[in-house]
Amino acid sequence: MGPRVVGSLNRGWRYHAGAVPGSGRGDLDDRHFAPVTLPHSNVTLPWHGFDDTAYQFVSTYRRHLRLPADPGGARVFADFDGVMTAATLTVNGRRVGDHRGGYVPCSFELTDHVRWGGDNVLAVEVDSTERPDIPPFGGHVDYLAFGGIYREARLRIVPATFVREVFAKPVDVLTGARRLDVRCFLDGAAPDAPPLRLKAAVHDGDRCVAAAWREVAPADSPDGGHTVTVSGLEQLGLWDLDHPGLYRVVVSLYDAGGCIDTVEVRVGLRDARFTAEGFFLNGRRVKLRGLNRHQTFPHVGGAMPARVQRRDARILRQELKCNAVRTSHYPQSPSFLDACDELGLLVFEEMPGWQHVGDEGWKDLACRDVEAMVRRDWNHPSIILWGVRVNESFDCPELYRRTNAIARRLDDSRPTSGVRYLPDSELLEDVFALNDFGPDGLLLAPNHAGYLVSEFAGHMFPTKRTDNVERVQAQALLHATVHDRLAGDDRYAGGFGWCAFDYNTHAEFGSGDRVCYHGVADIFRVPKPAAGFYRSQCDSGEEVVLEPGFHWSAGDHAEYGGPGRGAIFSNCDRVLAYVDGALVADLLPDHKSFPHLPHAPFFFDQTSGIAPWRRTWGDLTLEGYLGGTLATTKTFSGRGVDRALCVLTDDEELDADGSDATRVVLRVTDEYGVTRPHATGAIRLEVSGPAALVGDNPVPLIGGVAVVWLRADERPGTVRVVAIHPDLGTATAEVAVREVAAERW
Ligand code: GAL
Repeated sequence: MGPRVVGSLNRGWRYHAGAVPGSGRGDLDDRHFAPVTLPHSNVTLPWHGFDDTAYQFVSTYRRHLRLPADPGGARVFADFDGVMTAATLTVNGRRVGDHRGGYVPCSFELTDHVRWGGDNVLAVEVDSTERPDIPPFGGHVDYLAFGGIYREARLRIVPATFVREVFAKPVDVLTGARRLDVRCFLDGAAPDAPPLRLKAAVHDGDRCVAAAWREVAPADSPDGGHTVTVSGLEQLGLWDLDHPGLYRVVVSLYDAGGCIDTVEVRVGLRDARFTAEGFFLNGRRVKLRGLNRHQTFPHVGGAMPARVQRRDARILRQELKCNAVRTSHYPQSPSFLDACDELGLLVFEEMPGWQHVGDEGWKDLACRDVEAMVRRDWNHPSIILWGVRVNESFDCPELYRRTNAIARRLDDSRPTSGVRYLPDSELLEDVFALNDFGPDGLLLAPNHAGYLVSEFAGHMFPTKRTDNVERVQAQALLHATVHDRLAGDDRYAGGFGWCAFDYNTHAEFGSGDRVCYHGVADIFRVPKPAAGFYRSQCDSGEEVVLEPGFHWSAGDHAEYGGPGRGAIFSNCDRVLAYVDGALVADLLPDHKSFPHLPHAPFFFDQTSGIAPWRRTWGDLTLEGYLGGTLATTKTFSGRGVDRALCVLTDDEELDADGSDATRVVLRVTDEYGVTRPHATGAIRLEVSGPAALVGDNPVPLIGGVAVVWLRADERPGTVRVVAIHPDLGTATAEVAVREVAAERW
């Protein structure tokens, strides 16, 4: 056959929310099935307050598959990035195989079951119940897994002998002998077949920088794959936080007749180490300033397409200015990790699990998950740690010896870690990681080399974005206090706050409405003041940040029982505050209370310059200065009036592939564009053009903000959203939906 063919298998599915006997039969009448596109959630839910058994059922997906004429000796695979939680696949009524576990990919070889040049029927029965035989289930879990074929799928046609996977491992990148050990794993070569040749070429954009060849004897198929060493890479830039250089490694397999298969992976060259003196990236100390991320989105669980997954990485890196994220508590979307590579966001990736360890079969699956995680993600330069312990589980040496051994055997270039909540638990991993929920954010002193605080805050201080100003500000200061402590001791490699975004959970956790409000942003990714703290920690050369942790209002200050002392999160070195144009405060960062943070918060006495008897309340203007120069200004209205409705989409363009999506944020603001934090009401949305709404309509304002997503269908065109507020009139946004090629099968 010619070169391998890989294409999307996301479109053209039909779905039924139940089990269907004989679901794979070609002659089954599936007219009552609903047309769906992957990623797909088996049910659409309210964003909170729903019954968490609502998605736990068996469902059926069917798809016709028209294959090209037999290319001669080809093999065909259906690759699923994630099916929650168990999948059984049939082709033309014949069972091909099954897979248990929703956080790692599964592949089914269809070769012996398909008709080339004809119509085939694929059917996937998906069991989304919390089966105790499958990690993470069996105990209580503080997050929801949801259900459905919730990640992307592809069809892959390859020759009989092909490159199954490639691990391009950077070696000695800080020395003059920098190289890539490109490990190539072959499939399908008969042991007595004549020798094959492998070529590994490193490309910088379109330019081939270096290449190497090697002859391999199929009989000799080492477990570690065939290694092709590529050197001469000195001219390539390193992968770093600010300049995440990425290169393509193209592996080609040749037999006597020529090239029979080609695979491409992307790599970055970097050196990452945990030492007794902290974490070092490319020889430079980097304090990990991170957050934990759950992959939950409102209404659809994890079933958001690549663009929306990637957006989360952007929020973490570019809005929250984190340099690291922990994928609590499972391998997350490949698109999210791709974006981490591109943005310079370091990743602590973790096996699925939460406190519970099951029986022997469960442990075998947990080990399989570790192997699948490492094999799926070993080329991501952003990943610096493999989490090979079930989050917060008790010691279980026989399991964790296995998981550590698997990760080390597959990838000796990265350390392992495992997250515990008992400081004296057995350490089988390379890097000690502790969830430290000390009161007031006080952490235990580091007692291991390479000490990482994998979680803090969280349930110690649940905070709704609409909570009163004391609480939202206190959440921000708790995160600031912990990061100050982490920054003050080189033995801490750094820490990951719990957590980035509010997430759905079971009734026994969170606020009783299926949400843990532990995020520094809410489940719609709308920031709380704690987000302002994270944002303020970047260098002012990257962005000048000035974010008050309070909102400006006439009554909420000390003399009326409010907080009085308002925190301002900024990377400026001086802040001047004016009320109605009169200077009321000249502020410096509070280095005394936060001696170690790169940018300590400022504190502003909100009664400054305002006579207690004064009943009018002026506009507040904050000016941020750097080295005596005005760097940024923000003004907050003192009138207390909802003035405007504004609408903003995260993207201006979508692909007409039936699943691409973007977020639409609606805000009620004052006359300066600042969100009015108590604005309520329902906004009616009129959507025209080729997209559907994911979200409520009318959509309620929560603390002045309302959020929905637009999901493109398969027609190109212009989507227009008209938002209608009962008093503030309408606001309109448009998104162009671009034509994309049809799927080939
Ligand atoms: C931790 C746990 C997290 C989350 C958090 C809430 O103990 O690892 O998954 O439940 O508590 O603060």
